[in-house]
Order: sequence, then structure tokens, then C-alpha cells
Amino acid sequence: MKWTVSKFRASKGHALLPCVTAYDYITGRIADRAGVPLVLVGDSLCMTALGHSTTIPATMDIMVHHAECVHRAVRDAIVVGDMPFLTYTTEKQALANAGRFLQEAGVDAVKIEGGVTHASIIKRLTDNGIPVMAHIGMLPQSVKEKGYAIRGRTPDDVEKLMADLDAVSEAGAFAVTLEGVLQEVATEMTARCPVPTIGIGAGNGCDGQFLVLADLLGLGEGPLPKFAKSYAKLGDAAVAAIQAYASDVCARSFPDAEHVYEAVKK
Ligand code: KIV
Repeated sequence: MKWTVSKFRASKGHALLPCVTAYDYITGRIADRAGVPLVLVGDSLCMTALGHSTTIPATMDIMVHHAECVHRAVRDAIVVGDMPFLTYTTEKQALANAGRFLQEAGVDAVKIEGGVTHASIIKRLTDNGIPVMAHIGMLPQSVKEKGYAIRGRTPDDVEKLMADLDAVSEAGAFAVTLEGVLQEVATEMTARCPVPTIGIGAGNGCDGQFLVLADLLGLGEGPLPKFAKSYAKLGDAAVAAIQAYASDVCARSFPDAEHVYEAVKK
């Protein structure tokens, strides 16, 4: 099924929305073949694909480059480009950079971290025809200032989250990512929110979920965060495949007869 931003928004209350990240052509094809409604070119690529320890080093040039590859791969899902750190500090700057995502990479929408503080930017973008997915709760781009603390543990914090939610949905966001929020709070936010909430580390009461593709496919090494689940162990399978190839090469059993060009018979 061909997804659009308006179809995604209208799914609220009718269908659950399993969303994933992708970083290049091959992961974009895999995600799209699986039939997910939305593929995010997340700035988490900075960590999973580029080896950094945070998302902070992502730049517009890096993100546009990866988003363009994903856009070429995806036929049915919506592709969302994640606005990197410090690329949407003013309405003017946000408009120019979000415009690059749409014009140069061909994405359908952009994602922005921030609530009340970023509502005017979300409004400016949507007023100019750029669909925005908001992102509130724990914000990875603010890790240096706020850390990775789970949100919604105190009544004051719940009040702040609700204010963020109202601000971004009133500003015109077509969906809201809720990251690192207590399940009962995220469930309450979902009931209050007129557009789909997509949770990551926010329990199972949201309208949809995000899972970072490297986690979902088990491509990385080491333990996953508590909220993430691997549905395959493709990293281990890939290591075993390369080792099998290496041992065939060392035994001169690859290439075998099946993989060798034959001489043209005269
Ligand atoms: O960068 C990312 O992968 C994200 C998550 C919400 C999936 O922002």
C-alpha cells in the first residue's frame, strides 16, 4: 500500500503503525519490502552507521546524503528526514534546512526534537508545505544538557510533557514521536493527542512504535537498551557467512566449478 502523510495522520484510532529507521539504499529497500508505513532517516545513523557515541555530530550534508539513498529505495512508505542538531535554531534556518531535505533528498517530511520551544518552527514549516513529525520526551540531541533520563516520573514533568504535546499538535505536526516516557504517561498522552503518537521507549499504549533497524535486525554488538528488541541476529549470521567464505578461499574450494566462467567452445 502506498502511504502518504495524510493517510498516516488519519490512521489514528484505526491502525497501529510500526515504524523503523533506515540509513542507505539497502536498508531502505529492506524496510520498504517489509511493508512498514514510515521509514525515518534518523540521526541515530550517526551512532549505528557512522560509529559516533551520540547523534550530535550529524550535519545536514550527512543527513541529506543518506536520506537521498533511502528515498531512492523506498516505494511505498513515507520517508522522514531527521533534522540534525543545531539546524533548526530559528524559523529561517529551519525552513532552509527542511527545504534541502525535500528538494535535494526527496523526503516526504522532516522530524524535529522539541516541544513548546519549537512550536513556532513547526508551524512555520507546516505553513510552508513541509510536513513535520514532532519529537518530545527524552531528546537525544539534548543529551549533553539533560542526559538520557526517562520522562514523566513527577507530576511537574507530566505537566511539561502535556504542554509540549499540545503545543506541537496545535502547531500542525502530523505525528508525534514520544521517546523515553513512562508507559502510563505515554498512554495518557496518546489518548489526548489528535495525531498518531509513535513511541520508542514509551511502552505499548502509543499509536505506533519506532525501532532502530540495527537493533531490530541484531546488527550491532553488545547489549541493547532496555526498550529495544532484536527480531534476528543478522550481525552474527553475517560474521559466520564471512568466516565460511574465508575458509573456502583458504581451502581453494571457492570459486568452485559453478562460479567459474567456462571457455567458449569452438
Ligand atoms: O534518530 C532516530 O533514530 C530517532 C528515533 C526516534 C527512532 O530519532
